[in-house]
Formats: sequence, C-alpha cells, structure tokens
Amino acid sequence: MKMVKKPKVSVDKIESHDEAEKAAHVLRDAIRFHNYRYYVLDSPIITDEEFDELFLTLIALEEKFPDLKSLDSPTQQVGGAPREELGLVTHTIPMVSLKTVYEEDAVRSFDQTCRSELGVDELEYIAEPKFDGVAVELVYENGRLVVASTRGDGETGEDITANIRTIKEVPLVLMSYEGEEPPSRLVVRGEVYMGIDIFNELNRQRLEKDEQPFANPRNAAAGSLRQLDPMITAGRSLQIFVYGVAEATGRDFATQWEALHTLPKWGLKVNTNLIQVCKGIDKTLEFHRQLGESRDDLPYEIDGVVFKVNSIASQDKLGMRARSPRWAIAYKFKPRQATTKLRQITVQVGRTGRLTPVAELEPVNIGGVEVARASLHNLSEIERKDIRIGDTVIVERAGDVIPQVVKPIEDLRDGTEVVFQMPSQCPICGGEVVITEDKRTASCTNIGCPAQLRRSISHFACRGGMDIEGLGMKRVDQMVDAGLIKGFASLYTLTVDELAELERFGEKTAQTLVDQIAKTKQQPFHRLLFAMGIPLIGAETAKVLASHFGSMERLMKATEQELIEIDSVGPEVAQSLISFFSSDTTRQMVTELEEAGLTLSAEEEVAPGEKPLDGLKFVLTGVLTRWTRTEAASLIESLGGKVASSVSRKTDYLVAGDKAGSKLTKAQKLGVTILSEDEFAELTGST
Ligand code: IVH
Repeated sequence: MKMVKKPKVSVDKIESHDEAEKAAHVLRDAIRFHNYRYYVLDSPIITDEEFDELFLTLIALEEKFPDLKSLDSPTQQVGGAPREELGLVTHTIPMVSLKTVYEEDAVRSFDQTCRSELGVDELEYIAEPKFDGVAVELVYENGRLVVASTRGDGETGEDITANIRTIKEVPLVLMSYEGEEPPSRLVVRGEVYMGIDIFNELNRQRLEKDEQPFANPRNAAAGSLRQLDPMITAGRSLQIFVYGVAEATGRDFATQWEALHTLPKWGLKVNTNLIQVCKGIDKTLEFHRQLGESRDDLPYEIDGVVFKVNSIASQDKLGMRARSPRWAIAYKFKPRQATTKLRQITVQVGRTGRLTPVAELEPVNIGGVEVARASLHNLSEIERKDIRIGDTVIVERAGDVIPQVVKPIEDLRDGTEVVFQMPSQCPICGGEVVITEDKRTASCTNIGCPAQLRRSISHFACRGGMDIEGLGMKRVDQMVDAGLIKGFASLYTLTVDELAELERFGEKTAQTLVDQIAKTKQQPFHRLLFAMGIPLIGAETAKVLASHFGSMERLMKATEQELIEIDSVGPEVAQSLISFFSSDTTRQMVTELEEAGLTLSAEEEVAPGEKPLDGLKFVLTGVLTRWTRTEAASLIESLGGKVASSVSRKTDYLVAGDKAGSKLTKAQKLGVTILSEDEFAELTGST
C-alpha cells in the first residue's frame, strides 16, 4: 500500500472494524514515517501540530476499537529510532514527552482534570518556557558526568556523551556552591539548543561553503549533537537548559520549584529567569500570553510554555499516561503566520541546473522579520497546494529561516489568478528544461548553461571521469566565477599566471594544478565519454560505447538503430546520445577537445569483466528514491566498489540521498566527493 503522508481520518465516521483496521494501518505508517524524518533524519516535513493531529487521531481510533491496540503501534512508544552508530543507552526511567495543546480550552480542561483528581479548588503550577531544541539526559555519578543520551524512542536513546562534553554549559563535575553536596547519583533532563545568532552565523558559513543550510535552530542543534565526530559538535557552540530531575539518590524535592532552584547550586544551568510559580490556571495562561509576546526578543527559540503541577507529591498522585505525565502539559504558541499577496512565481536555477520556483510576495512582517520571498520547492508542491499567481496566501515562519507558503485562501480568489507553468526553457540560458514524471525536479539540460557549468566541470574532473587531482568543487567555483572556464576544453588552456591570481592559489598550487590537468589528456576514451556528462550515460555504458565504436568520430555518426542494436543500450539511452551529439554546442566542444589533444579513440579493448568502480570506497547516506540501501550497496559491489558505514579520509564517494545528515557534513569537512542520487545513477550507468 502506498504511504499517505497526511491521511485524513474521521474517527467519528468509522463504524466497521475493517475500516478501522485500514485507517489504523495508514495512520501508523504515516506516524512511523514522520518519526523517522524527525528523529533519524532531523528533517521533518510536517509541522509538530500536524504530527500531533495524526497521533491524537490514532489514539482516538485505538480507544474506539481497543483490540486494534498493538505493542508495535507508535502510541505505545515515544519518539523514534535511535541511530545505532552512536551507541545506545537505556534510560533507567523512560523519557516520556508532553501532551501538547494549542487552545486555551484544552489547558483549562487539563486544570479541571488535575484539580478534580486531587480534590482541590486551585492548583499551584510552575510555568516554564518550552525550549525548542533536543531533549537530553545527563547522568552524574559521584558528581561526575558519566553518560549523556538523547531521548531516542523513550526507552533507549543514543549515547552522545562525547558530544555533550563539548558543551561549555554542561559541568563535567558537579559543584557544591552553597554548601549542599550533590547526590551520589543524579539524573537530570534538559534541552540542548542553539542560540539564534550562532545559528544564523552557522548558516551563513554553510552557504558560503555551498553547504545546505539548516532549516531552523532545532535541526541545527540536533544535527550538531548527533555527530559521530565530537570536534564538529564542539565547533557549534551549543547551550543547555536543564528542566527536570529524574533521579536524585537520597535527596527529595518537595516541589519542581525547589528542584529547579537547587540544580544551579550544583553547577547545572537552569533558566530561572523565565520560570514562574503561578497560583491558579488564569495566571499560567497570562504567563503564556506574555511570553508569547516577548518570544521574538529572546536570543533562542521557544515554541510554547510548559505547565507543571508544582508539588511533587501531587505529581506522584496524578501519575502517568502511556507516553506523557498527567501532571504537565505543553501549550504551544501559534505559528508565526501572516497573509499576503503572491505577486509572482519566479524560477531560480541552482548550481546543479535545477529549477526552483520561488514565491515573490508583497512584503509582510512575520515575527519581526520582513518576508518578501518564500521557496515553493517544486511543481508538485505547487500543484498539491493549488497555489496560483495572484492568490492571497498564508505564509508561515515556524522558527525557520526559509518561510513557507502554507496555502492559498481560495475564498479570496476573483478569477484573475493564474496557474503556474514551469518554463520549458531555462531562464538563464534558454536551454531545454526537463521535468521528472513526479514533477518534483525540473532541470536545465544545456551543459553550456552557466548555472550548469560548475556541475559539468566538477563531474568532468571527478574520480570516475577525467580524475583531475586537486580540482574540487570550490576551485571549480572560483574559476567559473573568475570567467576562466567556459567549457571542458578551456581547462586545458589555463595558464599558471591566470590561476595564481585566484585567492588561496599561489604559483606553486597553480603549477601543480596545470600539470595535473595536462596529465589527464591521456585518459582513455571511455573515461572522457563518461566525463562529458551525457544524460543517462554512466561509466559502464561509456565503456561499452567506446569499445563498440572505437572513436568519438564513429560514435557521433551512429544512427539510433545502430545504437539500439548494442545489448546494453535501450531506446532512451540511444535517444539521449543522438540528441546530445546533434547539438552544435556538443560538436563545437568535441572539436575543442580534439584540438586540446585529448584521447578521442579507444586504444585498447576493454578487458571483459573489468570493474569500473574497482577499489573505490563508497558510503551511503540519506534517503534514496530509486534503490534501497541494500540494492545500492549491491550495485556498487557488482561494479567492484566497496561500501563502508562511516565516512573517513579513505572514502572516495559519499552518495547523499534526500536530507542527508551528519555523514554529509563530515564528508564535506574531509573534502570527500559527494554524489547526488542522479550523479550516482550516472556513475553506475543505471539511469
Ligand atoms: S518537561 C515529563 N519542560 O518538550 C516531562 N520539557 O514533549 C518531560 N521541552 O522534547 C518534559 N522545554 O525536551 C519539559 N521546560 C520544559 C521543556 C521541555 C522543552 C521539550 C522536551 C521534549 C518536549 C516534551
């Protein structure tokens, strides 16, 4: 069955058991998927509010049809799967989460329930900010930090001790500031977060290095905390607020207030400034309103207020639900939204030749930030949300850097709105644009397109291609920016003087690079053929073509029929070759390459069974859409490559699927060549 990302289920309307079973299945699939996006990939694609709605629907369904409750239902579990590479930690007391509400009524009914359970007229609450970061547990034994972990699935989390130790606000050894010795065993819980300034600076640096920016400080904190390399975490200036005690041997606290005011005496960081004791629910609601108004002035993100019954004895009486305590509730703030006019949808061409539609908005202030543009991601998103040019739209900034167009307000349409069409020609170079069947990707096919040039040159220079040592992405960028490269052949006419002018180059580096480039003139013909980046022509197909036709000249003259007759060449590949070689740009390029002295004919036959990826080490990360990890791994192995589980200096390629996480960052840091799914498909000839 196909997974539905946001299934719409009305529990009230479900009567038959069959129907209920189906709905439970669909909901569970979706919840597991979103848990995975949130916890494992650090990259949710729905809001917390939407997630909670799915979760609450499943709870309601399971209550109506109790026999549907099963141990493997997400309702019986908190959170998602931990990353095993980090090592696992079992929490002695499960790390539950909080019931989340969005309306005042729900808070009042929470108060009502607590009061009637405890038989009191008024309750004392402690109101705390709900910090938007990553939940962690710190275990201190005899005053020393022994283990730190993430929540994981609530029972078992990831061992992040080495990373936590890099956070300056986390004491490695507890103190006794005001004479009180810390307990022999102390287990505390808190939130690791990234300050907004640090976050903005990190993203600025990432953009400069052409790395994917983090969507929001929470993702940045999560990504930084779950690094396999603590050095990376150390560079990210994370912070912590401790908000609870799970165990404190020999030390009983009468109230949450007392606990939170004792922890700092042992050196633990608590946000005592923004914590308040509130007598009665009205005061807590007032606190929520006030904090909601001042949240934009804080140097870190909060996304709501947590109300906890202050007395620990009352907390114990109230007890727990399956996945959350009965004595606490999170009252979230409304997402920062505004409505505005969508004036136009423009199209940006990225460095990979990918076309991204962008909403040009009538400028609007959302939470202190002026928003005039928002990414619309892709054609499929635009069609799914039915966003039209001229629409009045709801724009949201859920703590995210990149604002989102939530949806159009259809009632405000006057008939003049225009449905967006993805251009059939690239707005940069006029080249043909191809759109994938699922409408999620549109790309310019002209290899001469300036936006594409960087990518073509990088591909040309890559290991499986011409293998130009020392010519990575950054240098290619520099050269293209300086106007030194117009096409493949211009690499071979670069001079030491030209290169030496570039930043971080110098004469010696320039000379080495010129020599390295010149050396590759001898690369065999099949390599050049692959390096040219002809759509659908991977390393393997390039070899077959080179050995079949023997020279560029003959290949260029091949008819579609002749091409199809080759065993491993299908009609699409044949078509791709024909259209590639029939273009004037290609013909011109081939002439230039010949003049530059490259090898345009096969001197030797390809040895049967030769493996194009022989000896190359691959690491896979993120979500691939065409293969499972296992399939991708066997593909690599069948071509002679090896697959490792973690990135190191020895890695040749990192294949990064959608929303790749820490492996990607590490690969970037180590300068490992990163392949997108498409590039990987090309390399392995499996497009
Ligand atoms: S108390 C038993 N207090 O919100 C209660 N949680 O679903 C456990 N959070 O990711 C949580 N600020 O890390 C509590 N002041 C606060 C909090 C807080 C943020 C996070 C927590 C978890 C989520 C709860």
